[in-house]
Amino acid sequence: MHLKTKTKLILLFIIFFTIIVFVFSISIYYLMRKELYSSLDNKLLSISQLSAESPFLIYNQNLPSNIKNLYSNSDMQRSGSILRILDTSGNIGSDLTNLNVKDFPVKKDVLKKALDGIMVFQNYNIEGLKYPIRILTYPVISDGYILGIIQVGTSLEFVMESLKKLIIVLSSLLPILIGITFIFGYYIIDSVLLPIRVITSKAKQISAENLNEKIGGNFPDDEIGELAATFDSMIKRLKESFDSLNQFSADVSHELRTPLTILQGEVEIALRGDRSSNEYRDILKSSLEEIKRLQNIVETLLFLSKAEAGKIVYNKKDIEVLELIVSVIYPLKSYLKERNITLDIDVEPSLIMKGDENLLKQLFYNLIHNAIKYNRDNGKIFIKASSSGKFINVSIEDTGSGIKKDFLEKIFDRFYRVDKSRTRDEGGFGLGLNIAKKIIDIHTAKIDIQSEVEKGTKFIISFPL
Ligand SMILES: Nc1ncnc2c1ncn2[C@@H]1O[C@H](COP(=O)(O)OP(=O)(O)OP(=O)(O)O)[C@@H](O)[C@H]1O
Ligand SMILES: [Mg+2]
Repeated sequence: MHLKTKTKLILLFIIFFTIIVFVFSISIYYLMRKELYSSLDNKLLSISQLSAESPFLIYNQNLPSNIKNLYSNSDMQRSGSILRILDTSGNIGSDLTNLNVKDFPVKKDVLKKALDGIMVFQNYNIEGLKYPIRILTYPVISDGYILGIIQVGTSLEFVMESLKKLIIVLSSLLPILIGITFIFGYYIIDSVLLPIRVITSKAKQISAENLNEKIGGNFPDDEIGELAATFDSMIKRLKESFDSLNQFSADVSHELRTPLTILQGEVEIALRGDRSSNEYRDILKSSLEEIKRLQNIVETLLFLSKAEAGKIVYNKKDIEVLELIVSVIYPLKSYLKERNITLDIDVEPSLIMKGDENLLKQLFYNLIHNAIKYNRDNGKIFIKASSSGKFINVSIEDTGSGIKKDFLEKIFDRFYRVDKSRTRDEGGFGLGLNIAKKIIDIHTAKIDIQSEVEKGTKFIISFPL
């Protein structure tokens, strides 16, 4: 059975409360019963005990006058009671019993106990009487001898009527209490669940199209408020990732469109009339460049999406830093020469770091390539690497254009280029640093940038040992 939370809570509330009230009522009933019986028994006992003060009269089967007085002054006689004296054989002597029945016999087992010196309280159902009679059979003992037996008893009318009234009160109170519990429980649970209903209905209205909406509302600073705030921050994160996805698609289409348009143009030119084989060769050469560019973009994007999905295969091993840097610089030699840039390498000898060789090559290639690209002609590049106990710090410093403070945060974004027109000509996608950041994250390293416009930029990466 599928119940709503509200119904479940109310049911639990009622069941729990009913059990409590029930246990409470039963306890009250039994306490009251015990109290009523013990007060009656005390009354019977005090009448009998007086008889022990007149052993002579008892022996002669006569009731002492103080007992008679006590008996006749008590309220016992109203609804039927007994007071009589028995000898040790069970014969009845003096008898003030006022029951509407004759010959109320002495029970043998009770008599036997009394002759053993034990007093017995017992309830008797007597035919013709509405209520049982409670009788105390009390042996009167003097100097170790049983002189006689007193039997004093009274109707249980008062006790039973009182208990009956109590049952009526308690059982009529029970449904009233359950009713009150239901009303209060309903009210409390409903008011507790109301904000959840508000959150649910608002959350239902929010979809990919209106992620600007918020749950908002004035929720108290408790679990419910926290729930609403969590929803809002989740919606905010969703919006951010939707936005970045949209931005990404727009950027990718933009990046792919340019080389495709160039390719199309070149092919159209080639098809327009006959050309010499040299002209065809030139067109094909330039087309090939655009195709390489397209391939490059696609491969880079593939790498980035893999990195984002955490699917990059990562082979950690010991790498000699100097060797790594030299191998990265090798393919950049002609580029350095072209720009007439001098390189200064200062790496601690036999410095070893842990990481993935290919990924680290890619990282340093991207940084050093930038250091050449954004340098001035005849500029300098300083590459340093050293160990500081807990980290290996590698820095790449150039004497180039520098980066304005406002742009520092953005340069790691996908497709972000500070000077769009310029870098486009030089074949940049604005992906190099985004890839670098992913590789840094994979190695749980940190990157810091110090840059001064028109003076140069320094990237410092700290790899934990
Ligand atoms: N050493 C640097 N000096 C000055 N500006 C830099 C430097 N490195 C990066 N930048 C700026 O940050 C931007 C982003 O760099 P990133 O390497 O991500 O892209 P890119 O070099 O333009 O293209 P790609 O690396 O994809 O070929 C660059 O366009 C450039 O404006
Ligand atoms: Mg770059």
